[in-house]
Amino acid sequence: MNILGINSVYHESAAALLVDGELVAAVEEERFNRIKHGKEADFDNPHQLPERAIRYCLNHAGLTARDIDHVAFSFDPKLRRKRYRAEWWDPRLEETFRLRLGQVPGLAEELLGRSLGARFHFVPHHLAHAASAFFPSGFDRAAILTIDGIGEVAGSTLAKAEGQRIQTVETFGYPHSLGFLWEVLSGYLGFSHYDASKVMGLAAYGNPEVFRHKFESILRVGKEGYAIAPAFIGFQADKFDRLDAMFGPGRYMDSEILPRHADVAAALQEATNAAVTALVRRLKRKVPSDNLCLAGGVALNCVTNEAVRQSGDFSDVFIPSAPHDASTAVGAALVVHCAKQKKPPQRGYSTPYLGPKFNRREILAAVKSAGLASRRSKAPAREAADMIADGKIVAWFQGRMEFGPRALGNRSLLADPRRPDMRNILNQRVKHREDFRPFAPSVLAEHADEWFEVGAHLTSHEFMLFAPAVKTAQRDRIPAVVHQDGTARVQLVTRKSNPRFHELISCFFARTGVPLVINTSFNDSEPIVCTPTDAIVTFRKSGIDALFMDDVCLTAQG
Ligand SMILES: [Fe+2]
Repeated sequence: MNILGINSVYHESAAALLVDGELVAAVEEERFNRIKHGKEADFDNPHQLPERAIRYCLNHAGLTARDIDHVAFSFDPKLRRKRYRAEWWDPRLEETFRLRLGQVPGLAEELLGRSLGARFHFVPHHLAHAASAFFPSGFDRAAILTIDGIGEVAGSTLAKAEGQRIQTVETFGYPHSLGFLWEVLSGYLGFSHYDASKVMGLAAYGNPEVFRHKFESILRVGKEGYAIAPAFIGFQADKFDRLDAMFGPGRYMDSEILPRHADVAAALQEATNAAVTALVRRLKRKVPSDNLCLAGGVALNCVTNEAVRQSGDFSDVFIPSAPHDASTAVGAALVVHCAKQKKPPQRGYSTPYLGPKFNRREILAAVKSAGLASRRSKAPAREAADMIADGKIVAWFQGRMEFGPRALGNRSLLADPRRPDMRNILNQRVKHREDFRPFAPSVLAEHADEWFEVGAHLTSHEFMLFAPAVKTAQRDRIPAVVHQDGTARVQLVTRKSNPRFHELISCFFARTGVPLVINTSFNDSEPIVCTPTDAIVTFRKSGIDALFMDDVCLTAQG
């Protein structure tokens, strides 16, 4: 049975394909259309399907549209209709949204060139999130916490899972949305609505005490969970006026970042940690289990994830590599599989490497059509490691592309973490990011405990989703990856999960005695590169010293 999962209701448009319960492909549309997040979330565009992501999934499995048994879409308009309240936002916008959603089944039929009828399924958004975390986790039973901007109307959902069954325990509905709160504060601080990761980076420079008290009137945290004052979030037109009055004028994009901006970010981060750990504790009371799954865009906040891990309420925590809306494409397909098949779907398969890969012939054709010279490296891992140790920036393009926003060693830029100036060099020559943002390390899993306060190794440590402290004694040795607060957003690399990347870091370790490299996504203010041509374009326009695609090596000197 072949089930195509689709997300396009808000942003992070994506497609995924389950073949007999096995996840064979998952990819975000942004990697193909080269628009960050695939598209903006808008009332007028939930029907814009991720056509190229869908096409990739079918091609990868050698299927045609005729072979698709079911299509699963990660939003259920019925739930929205039941619970929407006219005072939340303009009913005309809601009407537009509903009309566009109503087009989705027909557009899916048009795209696939066949009628679907009862083979098309709307799946509740937070159920899709929950499934996308639970089944890959491999847990037999678990408590699940989904936190995002909004599903149909829920901002957070507490659930429990056992076997194939996922049951909602409780929801926190609009306006109580931590995801929206981060979007609004990102805008107030002069970033785009989708730049929560920048706010998270900035928070480490601020003092949470400065606005702690005032922030409580926006986000109130108690034993029973959290509540958000509606005047500050979502669709309120005057929300920035209120924030200006409370914290001083908001920041204009590209203007100077003042200490109070960092203090606001710090108060937000602190309050979010408190809110999420309160939810986790509440969930533990309702669902006694040792296993926790986290899902939803807020689960990309590695500082909060670290607080959840350290709280110790659950001994094992699993977060998928793409906890934001992209993985609802996977989750929706899993939900439909469970409804249609007696056989359970695949469990515990959590690899992020689910996207396109390219063979040497395709790579060489791209190099040739760019008019560039390349050579074949006999030992790409060793050669790349030596270049990194010599202070070079190396682009590492290997195998299947990652699913999710982090480059995890297949579409990565790598550099030497020992050099204090490497952050600036990367920013000036390639990344063009704000200077305050940290770069992350990828460490050999077998040496992680010597360098970072990782605790028990979790599968999700391989997805760069936690920010443990760097061991005090080691901080001076790897200054380029230690954030302002002494933490690092570390990726653990095992030989099993990514043998080529593991080999490269092992070579770097053998030469330098340091078992980690800087790993940042292979892009320059654009979605992560997907194809060899994307890689070559970014390589040529930036100050990257060398590009390895499979064993094909290009250097800046030609
Ligand atoms: Fe979501």
